[in-house]
Amino acid sequence: MKILLTGAAGFIGSNLAESLLVRGDEVCAIDNFNDFYNPLRKERNIQTASGMPGYTLYRTDIRDFEALKAIFEKEKPAKICHLAGMANVRYSLKHPLLFEEVNVKGTLNLMELSRMYEVPQFVFASSSSVYGGRPDNGVPFNEDDRVDAPISSYAATKRSAELLAYTYSHLYGLKVTALRFFTVYGPRNRPDMAVSLFTRAIDRGEPIKLFGDGSARRDWTFVADTMRGIMAALDHPLDYEIINLGNGHPQTEMDLIRAAEAALDKKANIHYLERPATEPAITFADTSKARRLLQFEPQIPFSQGYREFFEWYAREGRE
Ligand SMILES: NC(=O)c1ccc[n+]([C@@H]2O[C@H](COP(=O)([O-])OP(=O)(O)OC[C@H]3O[C@@H](n4cnc5c(N)ncnc54)[C@H](O)[C@@H]3O)[C@@H](O)[C@H]2O)c1
Repeated sequence: MKILLTGAAGFIGSNLAESLLVRGDEVCAIDNFNDFYNPLRKERNIQTASGMPGYTLYRTDIRDFEALKAIFEKEKPAKICHLAGMANVRYSLKHPLLFEEVNVKGTLNLMELSRMYEVPQFVFASSSSVYGGRPDNGVPFNEDDRVDAPISSYAATKRSAELLAYTYSHLYGLKVTALRFFTVYGPRNRPDMAVSLFTRAIDRGEPIKLFGDGSARRDWTFVADTMRGIMAALDHPLDYEIINLGNGHPQTEMDLIRAAEAALDKKANIHYLERPATEPAITFADTSKARRLLQFEPQIPFSQGYREFFEWYAREGRE
């Protein structure tokens, strides 16, 4: 099965590319190797996949419709797995136009080309951030909850992509699964995420900037679990579904700091800062829909996942 995978040099995408190739899929990989974080990391991320049969890489920007069109024309993919995107809530506040261009227009380019080239199935990365600050809703976060009050431009772009995807499903029969990832972590972790930031700061003896008192909870989901969920979504075409891919067991940020301290055998120097309005107090996935529709069962508890992250960090994630 030939899968067009965008964001293939990133944290989740590069791990996924290898898993798809191992099980015998062909991967037509797209990434623009942008410098949101060090592009050399992305070059390293793709090293293993690049040497595997069935892998073709295009250094292409998903905002470039004509370049994408040439790839669809040549490759005729059977399915789209669209993970390319600008992530990071705080960065989105500084660069809202870029986030809109990549996360909305880029996604629309790919859906429009799927329509033109009759690609039947489209799986893409949405985000738990669409659930927003949730003054009225409880936990866990359920796919039927109202999500019309995003509290960052990042969240708004992801929700916009979900809505456009509904239109493509409704009008053209494109089978769409929007996967709402919950704070993914593991080997190749994005360097701007708390698991990386806190571990690196303690390791270097630098202060940790902690928003709030450490009681904020995140439903950290190990990347191998997220990948299993993505592959299950690729294997189960659905008309139009939004599905949470989370762990279902939120941990506090202080739990993360304690895990990092134990792994490094060093004490954290914590600078407590006021929690910004863009940071929800909790993320917590209701995973029952993923279980029902995709037979998705998260398998890696945080303690084990952090150990696996740390092994990678100590080996090659330090810079
Ligand atoms: N990591 C998480 O916890 C998390 C949570 C929710 C949603 N997501 C979403 O999952 C997807 C993958 O996230 P990640 O953590 O692997 O991030 P990442 O930044 O490591 O990977 C994204 C990749 O997309 C590429 N990209 C960005 N803009 C592009 C463009 N215009 N054209 C082509 N390629 C482009 C980047 O170069 C990068 O390699 C993103 O869409 C992100 O919003 C991630």
